[in-house]
Amino acid sequence: MLFMFLCLHIVVQVVSGAKLAPPENIHVEKGLLKWTSASQDRNITYTVQYRSFDNEMWTDVPGCAQTLFHFCNVTVTKAESPHGCVMLRVQAKRGELTSRPVKACSRQGDSCTPEFSVTARPGSLTVHLSRNHSMALEHGDHAKHRVYYGKEGESLQLKHKDGASSVLIHNLEQGQRYCVMVQYIYYNNAIGLGSCIQCIVIPVSENVPKDVIVAVGFVIFMVFLLPAAYILIFQHRRIKQWLRPPYQMSDVLIQPFPEHHILWSSSSPNEERYDVISSIITEGSRKE
Ligand SMILES: *[C@@H]1O[C@H](CO)[C@@H](O)[C@H](O)[C@H]1NC(C)=O
Ligand SMILES: *[C@@H]1O[C@H](CO)[C@@H](O)[C@H](O)[C@H]1NC(C)=O
Ligand SMILES: *[C@@H]1O[C@H](CO)[C@@H](O)[C@H](O)[C@H]1NC(C)=O
Repeated sequence: MLFMFLCLHIVVQVVSGAKLAPPENIHVEKGLLKWTSASQDRNITYTVQYRSFDNEMWTDVPGCAQTLFHFCNVTVTKAESPHGCVMLRVQAKRGELTSRPVKACSRQGDSCTPEFSVTARPGSLTVHLSRNHSMALEHGDHAKHRVYYGKEGESLQLKHKDGASSVLIHNLEQGQRYCVMVQYIYYNNAIGLGSCIQCIVIPVSENVPKDVIVAVGFVIFMVFLLPAAYILIFQHRRIKQWLRPPYQMSDVLIQPFPEHHILWSSSSPNEERYDVISSIITEGSRKE
């Protein structure tokens, strides 16, 4: 009987445990981590934890374990990481039930989170990032950006692309809404808070589809070019007749030649002198 009761207790715990909603809108504002409650239940406590990029373990933030508040001063965590950057997460708890932990994001860029903007073109989006950030100035090419992306509603952890500066992502579906999240990486390890998610609709191309161009071309050919070709080939005699100017003899041609033409032709032999070559001896005949 006791065993049955224990089993039932565990089943209820598991089922209702899945129902305890995690906190929402977790974000950092000026050293203060804030969140909102997803449920109306009272007696919910929250635990804030941090983790450095070189440590797999999550540790409670001092003063923010099982707190009833909806905020936590996280400035103390700065001293806990070699770069002053940590990841943060919050978990809700009510009695024996705990929610799944949810990672915090940063709405504005700072020394631990990249600042970026997103633009979209048909089939692609660009995440505009600066190479001039404190992480890169300190660590050079070992510090980069990692852009996580996916369709809205999909997990963003599945696809990512790294880049020192702006990142272009192509082969995206037109008319679809895509979301991105950006995080610094140091030697391939995520470091610091990820940015809060930004979403954008990929515009539909305004280019006229190819088959429409072919159809319009065919219509132009049939309506204009084909009749023009017919006229040129089969009616060219008639066109020539139309184009021929009316025949008219010009007045200049009818006048007689001016007199000096005749004078020039009679006097020309006197103006030039010729030396007369009397005999030609070839080289061969001279040797004889
Ligand atoms: C909150 O928890 C306290 C003890 O932890 C309990 O006495 C109280 O009834 C609870 N209130 C609600 C609304 O569950
Ligand atoms: C957070 O705590 C630090 C000291 O630990 C303090 O200097 C700072 O003002 C606090 N920030 C806020 C927003 O309360
Ligand atoms: C890089 O950032 C620093 C401040 O972080 C600024 O003073 C400097 O002008 C920036 N350089 C360029 C090329 O944008």
